[in-house]
Amino acid sequence: MTTVQDIRGAQNPLDRLGRPLHDLRISVMDRCNFRCPYCMPKELFHEHYRFLKSTDRLSFEEIARLARLFAQLGVKKLRLTGGEPLLRANLADLVGDLTSIPGIEDIALTTNGVLLAQHAVDLHAHGLKRVTVSLDTLDEAIFKQMSGGFAALSPVLGGIEAALAAGLAPVKLNAVIERGVNDHTVEALVERFRGRPVIVRFIEFMDVGNRNNWSADKVVPSRELVERLRRRWPMHAVAENYSGEVAERWRLADGSGEIGFISSVTKAFCGACSRARISSEGKFYTCLFATEGLDLRAPLRQGASDAQILQMIRATWLNRTDRYSEQREELRRSGTHEQKIEMFYIGG
Ligand code: GTP
Ligand code: 5AD
Ligand code: SF4
Ligand code: SF4
Repeated sequence: MTTVQDIRGAQNPLDRLGRPLHDLRISVMDRCNFRCPYCMPKELFHEHYRFLKSTDRLSFEEIARLARLFAQLGVKKLRLTGGEPLLRANLADLVGDLTSIPGIEDIALTTNGVLLAQHAVDLHAHGLKRVTVSLDTLDEAIFKQMSGGFAALSPVLGGIEAALAAGLAPVKLNAVIERGVNDHTVEALVERFRGRPVIVRFIEFMDVGNRNNWSADKVVPSRELVERLRRRWPMHAVAENYSGEVAERWRLADGSGEIGFISSVTKAFCGACSRARISSEGKFYTCLFATEGLDLRAPLRQGASDAQILQMIRATWLNRTDRYSEQREELRRSGTHEQKIEMFYIGG
């Protein structure tokens, strides 16, 4: 079977492993105001680095058109990412355009939080439902180091509070954990946010891109963190919110909240991966670890019809076989995945 009928009777494509297309992540900006060493190391992304020109990036009209077409193939959930998406001027207007697309049930944003206090009310007013903030540690010195020297905690914490106050609750936090860097600070994150409408998620450091100096010994397996944290806060695993949810959910037994673990290295979740990604210049990727994408900007700008673009997306999804995280070791050993796309370019 290569298609599945949705409730409107449309035939939605299934990839070669039987996975539907549900979730579209749209990078709206390749630039960032941080230089996290695991994503955009500052030695490489310096003042002379050539980011995209603004005309290279998809316009809001082009993004909305693509989102509408992806929705016709089964996408129900959109996530805006970067780089740092809040560096894109008037982002709330795009959110407003996307909320009116039939079939879209959920719109979220991933941000580093620095500009969130400034934009939270406007984003919510334009229809944003929820926000995920990247926050790796509450230790000021380590945080600074993990953002390449660019970050201070106070604006990020202020951004989280502003998001909660604006109605973007619960806020999820993404903490990438790297052994020897911030793994000793996970308890402080739980302690700080338990009892609040904030869900802290610990992410295993991944080998995305080609420049983040990844090695397996820098990964702290989620299992290890679970065992450590449950000694202090007894907790139990709870069922996923939806099929294919990336984070495993755990509830603190004292009723003070929920935390999550994203274990793409030690417990790959490719089997239910229904995520597609579009870069800010309009390339369509079927995996976070892809080496190649399909250019949708050229047909958009050369006058292709909706039917033609739909056909390109459909054909690509039908042909999809990606499951990098399940094949990590063999692909790394064989060297066939040497030129992966970078995280800042595709947005996580
Ligand atoms: P919701 O469940 O909708 O709140 O979001 P999410 O957890 O799916 O999205 P989010 O972008 O917050 O994902 C958190 C992190 O998980 C990302 O920053 C990545 O590090 C990792 N991640 C998300 N999707 C994938 C994926 O498809 N493959 C891999 N390997 N990692 C992923
Ligand atoms: N491994 C795991 N997660 C990463 N992110 C960025 N780089 C990595 C990596 N190497 C996450 C950040 C951010 C999101 C955009 O992607 O935590 O929340
Ligand atoms: Fe910017 Fe996020 Fe990459 Fe850090 S992880 S450099 S905040 S895009
Ligand atoms: Fe999906 Fe690729 Fe991540 Fe596997 S590695 S979950 S296929 S994006």
